[in-house]
Amino acid sequence: MADAPTTEPVYKTDALIAEDIDSYLAQHQDKTMLRFITCGSVDDGKSTLIGRLLYDSKMIFEDQLAALENDSKRVGTQGQEIDFALLVDGLAAEREQGITIDVAYRFFATEKRKFIVADCPGHEQYTRNMVTGASTADLAVILIDARKGVLVQTRRHSFLCHQLGIRNIVLAVNKMDLIDYDQSTYDAIVADYQAFADEIGIESFTAMPISGFKGDNITANSENTPWYEGPPLVAHLETVELASTQSAEKPFRMPVQWVNRPNLDFRGFSGLIATGTIRPGDPVRVLPSGKTSTVSKLVLYDQDIEEAQAGQSITICLEDEIDCSRGNVLAAADDPPEASDQFEATIVWLDDDAMLPGRGYWLKLASQTVSATVAEPKYEINVNTMDHLAAKTLELNSIGVAEVTTDKPIVFEAYAENKSLGGFILVDKLTNRTVGAGMLHFSLRRAQNVHWQPTSIGREDHANLKNQTPRVLWFTGLSGSGKSTIANEVEKALNLMNRHTFLLDGDNIRHGLNKDLGFTDADRIENIRRIGEVAKLMADAGLIVLTAFISPFRAERQMVRDMLPEGEFVEIFVDTPLEVAEERDVKGLYKKAREGKLKNFTGIDSPYEAPEKPDITVNTVEMSPQEAAQHIVRSLGALK
Ligand code: ADX
Repeated sequence: MADAPTTEPVYKTDALIAEDIDSYLAQHQDKTMLRFITCGSVDDGKSTLIGRLLYDSKMIFEDQLAALENDSKRVGTQGQEIDFALLVDGLAAEREQGITIDVAYRFFATEKRKFIVADCPGHEQYTRNMVTGASTADLAVILIDARKGVLVQTRRHSFLCHQLGIRNIVLAVNKMDLIDYDQSTYDAIVADYQAFADEIGIESFTAMPISGFKGDNITANSENTPWYEGPPLVAHLETVELASTQSAEKPFRMPVQWVNRPNLDFRGFSGLIATGTIRPGDPVRVLPSGKTSTVSKLVLYDQDIEEAQAGQSITICLEDEIDCSRGNVLAAADDPPEASDQFEATIVWLDDDAMLPGRGYWLKLASQTVSATVAEPKYEINVNTMDHLAAKTLELNSIGVAEVTTDKPIVFEAYAENKSLGGFILVDKLTNRTVGAGMLHFSLRRAQNVHWQPTSIGREDHANLKNQTPRVLWFTGLSGSGKSTIANEVEKALNLMNRHTFLLDGDNIRHGLNKDLGFTDADRIENIRRIGEVAKLMADAGLIVLTAFISPFRAERQMVRDMLPEGEFVEIFVDTPLEVAEERDVKGLYKKAREGKLKNFTGIDSPYEAPEKPDITVNTVEMSPQEAAQHIVRSLGALK
């Protein structure tokens, strides 16, 4: 029977509860911590193995244990013995209620080390859950049912773990009791896995024959496998080298989380050290600016310390007053990481809505947040066969390789070298959902070789000569809403007022600059991106630009607004209900769309996201185009 618990039960719920971790970890403060993930389905004995680990480390509490013994007698198929799977599966049932990222974290500790194990569902549709669990793991236990050998899912799990940079892999050949501890079967499975590991570049793994149910080779070497010379699972978990230990030997990098300035006498930079070791007196460089200084002191809580290394959160004070803010990276002065704005990356898509090439997402990497777009994937990877497939986008749970462009350079390292500076997430700008996770491979050379060329005559000079303030008057609305007609009226009025203008119109631009684009979501995004760039250039030239495009997505209209100086982008919503536009059907396109002869037609089978806070709205049911134009010109004021 387990000892009486000294803390609250730690896995009374599926999720990691901060208080539980704190109190629990406090008891084991001086021990190192290994984070690992178990991969395999329940059939492989994953629940039984986790239950066994928790039980053997006395992390099951008496009331739960009693309940478990009763349940096992009632439902367990395994006679009088305790069915550990019931414990974990019972919790799994609770978890199923409305949780999307379904990863259960559990804690246990032994004499030597403490552990956090991430337990994720193994099916293909749960790739995102696995990615979530594996992203912070030092080690993966890949479970194999000895009766079945290496399966498609074994390959999938191993591939994902390897992609996510887990370099410690344990191949746990489970249920050895059911094959009478047969060495030749075990050897054949290991050889089979070795061949696969070679194929995908897994350099080494540790295989062991176990039985989670009977307890063979879990805490002690089993008499049933005298031919097995390696350590039991727990001993291996207790002694395997931690990723953070390896990280401490790499060059120093710390993303700055915040600038700590409680009073005028103290200015420190706080963050979690990603790699390396740092001491007072060490020269450091602030990136991306490249400015250098020397560490004057290191502070941990309120104590000065002489050394800190990867995995520790500290505050660094510098000898010089140099610019350094949240999102910058402090690095070894003589061996800094690169900064770039174009990369190749592996991306795992985590959202129900597919990735939209060209759409701006927030990219968060370490403490940096920038706007980023993902290009059409170079290929998607079939996670079962590792084949490369052609792809236009990435759907939920799919994984592919694509180029990523950020709007300003970020400090990074290849994910394979440094998970903290190479791993990123993509966040939808409107919903704030995490939609993707990525691993940077390398920066693209062209990013490094293209620089900004300074010019002497700036946008103010252009605008001053024309005696006007540049603007982009962005008309948006359904097809047939009257955008072009009204924009044309507005341009006529501005022309009479001696304003220098230019009208960019959807149908016209699609005959030239954008004739390669159709009406898929991705093409519409690219259409608006190009129009945005052209409008910006024209505004830089001092013009008042009028654009008449459906521009159906809020995200891209916002993107153009963000490209221009504050106040220069004026969103004009030409508000015409679908029924009215369809009734007018000037070009006969609604009719075609209704008959199914025209696909992806806005308002029919392609969405239109009306502006939430347009700068100007014109209601074309109540106003004629001339009245609408007058209203717009009046709303714009003198346009000086
Ligand atoms: S946008 O969505 O990318 O902003 P844009 O304004 O350039 O569209 O082009 C819209 C015009 O293209 C419409 O006014 C219509 O004349 C024509 N068109 C042809 N096919 C479609 C379609 N599937 N959806 C919307 N407009 C279409």
